[in-house]
Amino acid sequence: MSRYRKVAITLHWLMSLMIVGNLLGGFLHDLVPRENGQRAFVMMLHTSFGLTIIALTLVRLGWRLANPPPALPDYFTGGERLLARAAHWAFYIAMLALPLTGWALTNRNDRPLLFFGLFEVPKFGLDTLTARSFGEIHETLGWVMVALLALHIIGIIKHHMMDRDNLMPRMGIGRQRG
Ligand code: HEM
Ligand code: HEM
Repeated sequence: MSRYRKVAITLHWLMSLMIVGNLLGGFLHDLVPRENGQRAFVMMLHTSFGLTIIALTLVRLGWRLANPPPALPDYFTGGERLLARAAHWAFYIAMLALPLTGWALTNRNDRPLLFFGLFEVPKFGLDTLTARSFGEIHETLGWVMVALLALHIIGIIKHHMMDRDNLMPRMGIGRQRG
């Protein structure tokens, strides 16, 4: 097997969109005006997609344990293998730690946490000060996620342009090269 399966590919791209959207929404929400609840709406999307990411990461990890990924190409050096594995696991850790610290942060006020406006999600019952500390961690992890994404994209571009290999087709983009 030389490529990821459809389930892994679908989850990868769906979650990439949600995570990039949440990074933008998180860092840039101050630019959205407060009038007519516009900023509150953006944050409702942020928290709801964030909670969805926790659920999807658990599904994705479970699916991955049952369906191991395709082996890395033979010509990968020991160092490259280690870097790729470390970066992928760091992503999975960040995909859980980032939304969980965001969830803890919502305890900074008494506003209800609504899932896409449909129903209320319980909070952790933390005091305001502790919640704010989680906010600091949430922000730092946001930057960690940006750094991981930069490393990931640089790695993929290097393999695509310089090694001219098949990493993109493994993740469902383009045809396999001979
Ligand atoms: C925040 C967004 C992203 C996250 C969290 C993410 C996460 C991951 C993870 C965890 C894997 C390893 C899958 C596994 O073995 O379980 C992976 C593989 C991959 N990602 Fe991403 N990714 C993101 C965005 C992107 C983007 C923008 C690209 C395109 C440039 C990309 C291209 C790939 C490719 C080609 C692979 C397969 C690498 C291989 O064959 O081993 N990813 N990604
Ligand atoms: C992978 C998912 C998530 C990502 C990538 C993400 C990213 C971010 C980022 C980058 C910030 C800006 C930090 C700053 O500059 O201070 C932020 C703020 C925030 N996030 Fe998240 N977040 C995620 C999930 C969540 C979840 C699940 C919740 C709550 C249930 C949440 C609640 C918040 C709140 C309340 C803020 C503060 C907004 C403000 O300053 O008023 N986040 N998030």
